[in-house]
Amino acid sequence: MGNKNITLGEFIIENQSSFKYSSGELSKLLNGIRLAAKVVNHEVNKAGLVDILGVAGEVNIQGEDQQKLDVLANEKFIQSLIKREIVCGIASEEEDNFIAINSNDKQNRNKYIVLIDPLDGSSNIDVNVSVGTIFSIYRRVTPEGTPVTMEDFLQPGKNQVAAGYIVYGTSTMIVYTTGDGVNGFTLNPAIGTFYLSHPNMQFPETGKIYSVNEGNYVHFPQGVKDYIKYCQREEEDRPYTSRYIGSLVSDFHRNMIKGGIYMYPKSSIASEGKLRLLYECNPMAFIAEQANGKASDGYKRIMDIDPKELHQRVPFFCGSTKMVEKAEEFMANE
Ligand code: AHG
Ligand code: MN
Ligand code: MN
Repeated sequence: MGNKNITLGEFIIENQSSFKYSSGELSKLLNGIRLAAKVVNHEVNKAGLVDILGVAGEVNIQGEDQQKLDVLANEKFIQSLIKREIVCGIASEEEDNFIAINSNDKQNRNKYIVLIDPLDGSSNIDVNVSVGTIFSIYRRVTPEGTPVTMEDFLQPGKNQVAAGYIVYGTSTMIVYTTGDGVNGFTLNPAIGTFYLSHPNMQFPETGKIYSVNEGNYVHFPQGVKDYIKYCQREEEDRPYTSRYIGSLVSDFHRNMIKGGIYMYPKSSIASEGKLRLLYECNPMAFIAEQANGKASDGYKRIMDIDPKELHQRVPFFCGSTKMVEKAEEFMANE
């Protein structure tokens, strides 16, 4: 698949002219993410050795404090982004408030803000199952040269200028969009270089996989229950197969390649579901739409939602267009 000789670094430079805003800056930013991804990948790969080197919260044999991987991933991405002097603000699932980068005047003139879920699917770390990182990039809306405000972060997903994820799986991949399609790069761990392995990724129009935590079935709205029964009914192309890893990034990645739908609905115990609009749903929605897929809260487009708070949750239905439309049909008939 694809031209294996193109590296991510080359691809970023070659494609920067097609980016409608100042291209060199976005390239710098993406390079910051690329570097942090390699560092976090290295740490994730060592996760199983934590018992030998010391568990999280303890001091390891080198006398260093062991950190939880989600905290560590958070630090690595934030450090790497701050160093590039391109970003004026960062919000992270791991931080209560956004970080305003205003240590000097020059940085105040930076235009971009980044929102990240540094380690997605973190409960899978202890059991050697794939985890990921999700990032989302916007231009600030307040004037350059002033400190960022909440307004810069609470933008609808349709304002995103880039978004992507890293999946630390059987191989490590970075998949991203700058609004001109979706491309995937696989890490060659021997030399630490990402190569273009999945150019122009597309969701199949429909598929045979549904991904949902069915343990919550009794709590789901009737529309979701009915859609799940539809998936399980015996018809020409059904029953569908059920696949749920419990890492949004990995579930999404598989469904984009094979065709499928991912759902995290609202329920009687979680009125807005679980996933975060700004760190998880908006970036995945941008990637999905750029790959011919669809992302909805069950009724309307995810990227049209006006966020009210940083850590806002939202129900999420995302994947192959026809499947998401079908789920919406069941929600409407509820
Ligand atoms: P995080 O590890 O960043 O908190 O995200 C976990 C999310 C998402 O990745 C996954 O799909 C979902 O939580 C799984 O939730 P359930 O265990 O409730 O199914
Ligand atoms: Mn997450
Ligand atoms: Mn997380």
